[in-house]
Amino acid sequence: MDFIVADTYEDMSRKAADVIAGCLATEPDCVLGLATGSTPIGLYADLVQDCAEGRISFADATTFNLDEYRGLDPQHDQSYRYFMQQNLFDHVDVDVARTHVPDGANPDAEAACAAYEEAIAQAGGIDLQLLGLGHNGHIGFNEPCDHFPVDTHVVELTESTIQANSRLFDSVDEVPREAYTMGIGTIMRARRILVVASGEDKAQIVRDAFFGPVTPEVPASVLQLHPDVTVIVDAKAGALCA
Ligand code: GLP
Repeated sequence: MDFIVADTYEDMSRKAADVIAGCLATEPDCVLGLATGSTPIGLYADLVQDCAEGRISFADATTFNLDEYRGLDPQHDQSYRYFMQQNLFDHVDVDVARTHVPDGANPDAEAACAAYEEAIAQAGGIDLQLLGLGHNGHIGFNEPCDHFPVDTHVVELTESTIQANSRLFDSVDEVPREAYTMGIGTIMRARRILVVASGEDKAQIVRDAFFGPVTPEVPASVLQLHPDVTVIVDAKAGALCA
């Protein structure tokens, strides 16, 4: 594992954007796994700028997002599809037909999950998977539990995740209670993994996830077992790992 402590959020974002830009430059038809949340917003802005200035192109790339709320229409302004359009897809030269987000509006959960796994396999698997880190160590929406769920599945969100994500909704009652997420196996099958975390509120979980025991109670800790992981945190999130 490469553990990099950047000075600031901007520095973390640039360094992480460089990893993705490097992947696009060396393998233009790469398959990228993408994440939502506040943390990647800065690195997406950097990639938009890189693309506008002609340094990178998404024209031949394929993308798969980690997760999506269940029951939210893609047009809902808190859906992860909407987030991706706003923060990246609408501003780069990606072919939207090759961007994939689990279909939150599909009432047939089993079919939606199986179709997502199949689409990833058909694309040849994920070359580089970007991940943020939940305060409880969740990756995607894989919440702490007693085992590592393998494939894309439906999860019930924990109260702490509902509370954390309610800041983005008008009220906590509007936060969906369920979500689709890639499984831990889906994530671990990616050939390379890039994790970003920022802010002092992530310092404890960064230490637990990357320097503590590997346990499904801290889902991100499983990444310690992956052969090619780069973790980039800002100084505040890395404060307990000196
Ligand atoms: C959400 C997402 C995760 C994300 C996490 C952290 O629950 N499902 O994929 O990594 O929150 O988000 P943030 O970067 O806003 O702290």
